[in-house]
Amino acid sequence: AGSRSSASNLPKHSYISIFNFFDKLEMGLIQFDTTINEYLFMVQATGIHIKDNVKNIGVQVLEQVVRGGYNINGTDYAYDFNLSESDVPPTTYLPDSFTYLSSQICPERLPSMKGRLEVNMSEMALEDVERFLLNAEPTMTLGGYWKPRDCVPRWKVAILVPFRNRHEHLPILLRHLIPALQRQRLQFAFYVVEQVGSEPFNRAMLFNVGFREAMRDLDWDCMVFHDVDHMLENDRNYYGCGDMPRHFAVKLNKYSYMLPYNEFFGGVSGLTVEQFTKINGFPNAFWGWGGEDDDLWNRVQYANYTVSRPQGELGRYMSIPHHHRGEVQFLGRYTLLRRSKERQSLDGLNNLQYSPLLSRRPLYTNISVSLSRKLAPIADYN
Ligand SMILES: *[C@@H]1O[C@H](CO)[C@@H](O)[C@H](O)[C@H]1NC(C)=O
Ligand SMILES: *[C@@H]1O[C@H](CO)[C@@H](O)[C@H](O)[C@H]1NC(C)=O
Ligand SMILES: *[C@@H]1O[C@H](CO)[C@@H](O)[C@H](O)[C@H]1NC(C)=O
Ligand SMILES: *[C@@H]1O[C@H](CO)[C@@H](O)[C@H](O)[C@H]1NC(C)=O
Ligand SMILES: *[C@@H]1O[C@H](CO)[C@@H](O)[C@H](O)[C@H]1NC(C)=O
Repeated sequence: AGSRSSASNLPKHSYISIFNFFDKLEMGLIQFDTTINEYLFMVQATGIHIKDNVKNIGVQVLEQVVRGGYNINGTDYAYDFNLSESDVPPTTYLPDSFTYLSSQICPERLPSMKGRLEVNMSEMALEDVERFLLNAEPTMTLGGYWKPRDCVPRWKVAILVPFRNRHEHLPILLRHLIPALQRQRLQFAFYVVEQVGSEPFNRAMLFNVGFREAMRDLDWDCMVFHDVDHMLENDRNYYGCGDMPRHFAVKLNKYSYMLPYNEFFGGVSGLTVEQFTKINGFPNAFWGWGGEDDDLWNRVQYANYTVSRPQGELGRYMSIPHHHRGEVQFLGRYTLLRRSKERQSLDGLNNLQYSPLLSRRPLYTNISVSLSRKLAPIADYN
């Protein structure tokens, strides 16, 4: 994220809107209310200098802000900002009394999926979460494997979590997500892919490693790419895959529950094994944060897929506040993004090399891997 719109794919009118926006702002014609302030702060906090480098801002968001400024007289905004928006009507879910057979595929809209969840961000020791969850579901086995017994799981989902230096976040995620996945009657396991060594954090390559290792472990059919600090707020946001790549984390609290731009593909996404293989996985060349999710979006488009998203408030997430923990951002992302298409077949699953160290915890497999730029040789890293 934070890198949408290389100069080449910026529609002309976006430039115009942005410059108009700043002109009007400077001339005092637009009310600069807290919402816009928050957004701009967010943009700045992610390291993008607005005035210096206008073309790198999420154009879609700015357009919305601009439109809000033009149309609604600064009192309300055109974007979807209605927090009381209702759930998908409950009638589309099965009634509590519904019984299903252990020989049948689990339904997708189960009565156990109740909707809005409380997110408890209190820190907790991993051991306590392990004890708590195993107590609640003794059928979980070492490595965090679980599958429903009362029906045949519709999807076998590997949850891949890229990781470094976030030990207090992981128990919060596991405690929150595991019971929700159990209510969704999915077969699942967690793979925490931890980057060791001193290279910049490479989220995308960690996902590629997680994919390879998960597939060596079990015949998963769905991969969920999950940031450790993203907590879903609605258990009807179903973590199965589909005909099209899925973006789960549509509305984040840190973006005021708006989709920051149409091509946003960050936080939590899911692809079938077939889809992920077809797009050659994530790029390996994104060292430092930012841009790799946009590259994945491009890969998905070039493979002629259309991203699907949960509707309405199902796609809400709360993220644990943090400040990139000294992780550097990837400044070369715009250059690489402009060349997404030509690089897709050169960089990804097909040039991935690594030597992992695997161990099992009660709730996840720990894949520890030292990433080096030499392991993913590609000419134009910088
Ligand atoms: C903006 O406010 C003015 C004055 O109150 C009003 O005449 C105009 O119709 C408003 N424009 C929109 C788009 O709501
Ligand atoms: C927000 O959404 C709810 C449910 O869809 C609707 O009843 C309400 O009128 C909306 N509020 C606004 C301010 O649009
Ligand atoms: C959140 O979790 C902590 C630690 O387990 C617990 O003490 C606290 O009561 C929980 N808060 C809520 C609101 O459930
Ligand atoms: C995507 O669709 C275009 C236009 O129909 C076609 O030329 C191209 O080969 C397709 N790409 C893939 C990867 O299927
Ligand atoms: C994973 O394993 C490595 C090596 O044993 C260990 O240092 C690290 O703390 C583990 N990470 C997690 C998240 O369990």
